Amino acid sequence: MPVTKNPLRDPRDKRLPRIAGPSGIVIFGVTGDLSRKKLMPAIYDLANRGLLPPGFSLVGFARRDWDHEDFAAIVHDAVKKYARTPFSEPVWRHLAEGFRFVQGTFDDDEAFDNLKATLAELDAKRGTGGNHAFYFSIPPGAFPVVCNQLNRSGLSQHSPDEWRRVVIEKPFGHDLKSARELNAVVNSVFPTESVFRIDHYLGKETVQNLLALRFANQLYEPIWNSHYVDHVQITMAEDIGVGGRAGYYDGIGAARDVIQNHLLQLLALTAMEEPRAFDPVSIRAEKAKILASVQLPKDLLAATARGQYAGGWQGGEKVLGYLEEDGIAPDSTTETYAAIKVLVETRRWAGVPFYLRHGKRLGRRVTEIAVVFKRAPYLPFSSNDTEELGANALVIRVQPDEGITIRFGSKVPGPSMEVRDVNMDFSYGQSFTEASPEAYERLILDVLLGEPSLFPQDEEVELSWKILDPIEKAWARTKKQPEQYPAGTWGPPSADAMMARDGRVWRRP
Ligand code: BG6
Repeated sequence: MPVTKNPLRDPRDKRLPRIAGPSGIVIFGVTGDLSRKKLMPAIYDLANRGLLPPGFSLVGFARRDWDHEDFAAIVHDAVKKYARTPFSEPVWRHLAEGFRFVQGTFDDDEAFDNLKATLAELDAKRGTGGNHAFYFSIPPGAFPVVCNQLNRSGLSQHSPDEWRRVVIEKPFGHDLKSARELNAVVNSVFPTESVFRIDHYLGKETVQNLLALRFANQLYEPIWNSHYVDHVQITMAEDIGVGGRAGYYDGIGAARDVIQNHLLQLLALTAMEEPRAFDPVSIRAEKAKILASVQLPKDLLAATARGQYAGGWQGGEKVLGYLEEDGIAPDSTTETYAAIKVLVETRRWAGVPFYLRHGKRLGRRVTEIAVVFKRAPYLPFSSNDTEELGANALVIRVQPDEGITIRFGSKVPGPSMEVRDVNMDFSYGQSFTEASPEAYERLILDVLLGEPSLFPQDEEVELSWKILDPIEKAWARTKKQPEQYPAGTWGPPSADAMMARDGRVWRRP
């Protein structure tokens, strides 16, 4: 039998070693939570896995009155607390030799001149080769001033054998208009191919595996369409509340924080056609086609739900309601739960609803994509025997128990022909000995390698805002307080009612 060409095979793999070449990273907003909990540990984990170049440098830029040693002590604490791989003193010592701290504010020309001198010193002493990534772990309001400073100081410019890249954390704006403005600011200083927008869900192993599942197998693709699929449910549930992030979250809410980016990316990967090749241009083009094909139902209020967590019990602990949290206005109308229904108007998906939901303080932390199939057209059994038979489903368990579940009907042992739902599970933990790297490890390494496949481009970001903007406007017009749901439950009753109108129910993952 002929072996067909594998679209997942990247012809450049042979040329691209997965170890970063000479380079360094500058983090703006280095004193923030993201930097301590995700970026610093991921950099250490990469070093520990031998994937960083020997002279790698990490430069922190912030207002604090720190010297290099203070900075190194902060990174040390963060690594000890949050790194995935075991602490190794020799790895740490070697890595820390490349740490520098530059003190200053974003409007301080002198601080950026110091940064330039620091990078030149690192190029000369540690061989970073003029290759630097600027990581914006800062609010979008600060992007223009930092971009201008990088331009003014000459830090964004480089000779042909060097690179400068900019890494941007979300939110990429709060609507289409502001996203376009932000994109214009960044693109005025950095060419498109040097801009890496982080959507950390794309760095998760299980999310990447979605493409392997779909395009490396023969089993699923024939049924991956409206002839067999009834609907798709994409869920990202968190058990945590807003925590210390009130300043960022209030006024943003669940839909802008998670649906606009992570969940619409998951939808695009689930629904997209096979890319011509496994390269960034082909993958992004297929994702963009899906995002451009998304249609919203006419009655937006009937096809969406919005909630806000009230106080309650979670994990045996009494927890506060959103309006009682520190830093949240007592009359805030920000939603902490959002559910939306969308359609993908393509030949493959016509008539198949995609339901997306995300909430904080829900029953448990779980992210999954459930492809729910139509029922068999005819059941040659007595209706009593199939009372407990549900719809077949293929569930991609993104986290925390990473794997894939297939739900189907099976005969219950015994004399009758009773058929009941059972699960067949693939679990990463059991099938592979390798532990999955953290999303940020993969994404930071890809930035240093200049590998852009997992980073959404401005077009995808803008298309996603085009989907969300009308929903946000419809919600704003009602001027209604989001419906309350007790912490530890599965969201507001209106979310169940939204599904019931379509004759469906949410899964209880
Ligand atoms: C972030 C959101 O993008 O993702 C947070 O801003 C959310 O509100 C977080 O808590 C969840 O990420 P993960 O990887 O823990 O699912």
